[in-house]
Amino acid sequence: MERENFGSKFGAILATAGSAVGLGNIWRFPVETGKNGGAAFILIYIACILLLGLPLMLSEFMIGRHTQSNATGAYHRLAPGTPWKWVGRIGVFAGFIVLSYYSVVAGWTCKYAVLAIGNQFEGADPAQLKSQFLEFSSHPWEPLAYLVLMIVLTHLVVVMGIKKGIEKCANILMPALFIIIVVLVVCSVLLPGAGEGLTFLLKPDFSKVNGGVILSALGQAFFSLSLGLGCLCTYASYFKRSTNLPKAAVSVITVDSLIALMAGFIIFPATSAAGMPLDSGTMGPDLIFITLPHVFQQAFAGLPWLAYIFSVLFFLLLIIAALTSTISMHEIVTSYMKEEYKLSRPKAATVETVACIVIGVLCSLSFGVLGDVSVFGRTIFDFCDWIVCEFCMPIGGILISIFVGWYLKKQLVKDEITNGGTLRVPLFNVLIFVLRYVAPVAILLIFLDQFGVFI
Ligand code: PHE
Repeated sequence: MERENFGSKFGAILATAGSAVGLGNIWRFPVETGKNGGAAFILIYIACILLLGLPLMLSEFMIGRHTQSNATGAYHRLAPGTPWKWVGRIGVFAGFIVLSYYSVVAGWTCKYAVLAIGNQFEGADPAQLKSQFLEFSSHPWEPLAYLVLMIVLTHLVVVMGIKKGIEKCANILMPALFIIIVVLVVCSVLLPGAGEGLTFLLKPDFSKVNGGVILSALGQAFFSLSLGLGCLCTYASYFKRSTNLPKAAVSVITVDSLIALMAGFIIFPATSAAGMPLDSGTMGPDLIFITLPHVFQQAFAGLPWLAYIFSVLFFLLLIIAALTSTISMHEIVTSYMKEEYKLSRPKAATVETVACIVIGVLCSLSFGVLGDVSVFGRTIFDFCDWIVCEFCMPIGGILISIFVGWYLKKQLVKDEITNGGTLRVPLFNVLIFVLRYVAPVAILLIFLDQFGVFI
């Protein structure tokens, strides 16, 4: 049976950009930027993306497109009988875990969209918003209902297949996301008092830059570009043979960075317009669910209808961004189950959905009744996040760069990236140099950082 492909090149890029654009852009990026000194962090982040993100994304694209196979099957084809298949296995495992805990937060965004639509933030002060959030996230069943809703929505799209499900959904949701984000940016930068937020984003202060800032930028680049988990490799396995891989990678990276920057241009001007400080205190993990509902009320004081529309659109934006990412996480495991265990797509997807709901429920309950359960000193949710972001992603990244830089024949890599010599890729040797020497060392540094090696 012929393997499914994306129907158009543009659709393939939109779907891949949909995977990259997620809570990582709209929540994590502004939080990291706020914590790490604003514009200087952004410049370092862009450097990380160009130096490491682009080569690694291209590597995953070439592995996937060359083998037209799921994340583990790809390594099996390129390196049969070797332990390299473990790179794919780590990716599939991480894809499963990331979907489980990411959907918890994605579920929260749904609840907050409902609250925004019901105008529940009006008149609430930060203390009330905080207790509202804590009450909801620790509730025994309500967050579970939203979690299941997000996973089931994801499931329904994945079951429809590549063209009719994933691509069609990206074709609708990505333009919608773009329109909403442009409207929000325009509203935010025009607010009186937005200037301070804009300066924070545009005027680099390098005095705050240290090793930790650079490592945070690298970590953010990995998460935001969905690197190291076999996700890009899986999507690229559905790319057409004629797709220009370097161009696709540059397009996805540009869209991802642009959306992250635009999220900054929504959040920082609104925060300064609301008279709140732009520092790590404001930009902590509470940002989305506690600080911003208050910021939007304050920033649009006197225009309550605009505050209402702004809040509704913002949470809608988060749902869309999260959904296009959860779909890609789901597809990593679904394609693996489908091809390696010869299951039909609906069956493979159902196995993944049920397993994710189980782990997701445990993650969600770790904000409430299971709050005292600790795994290696962390709550279940934090443990899952840690295992993916601090273990699987960096290890996956190191191994992928070594695999493409050292293990694969240079000619094979070149043929795939240049579409059999028909495309000119002038920086090919630089790419190989980065994959051989720069990427493994740089990522190893992120990896070791978590053990406090550099403190
Ligand atoms: N890149 C997504 C985001 O920014 C998260 C993601 C990670 C998606 C890993 C797929 C795989 O939110």
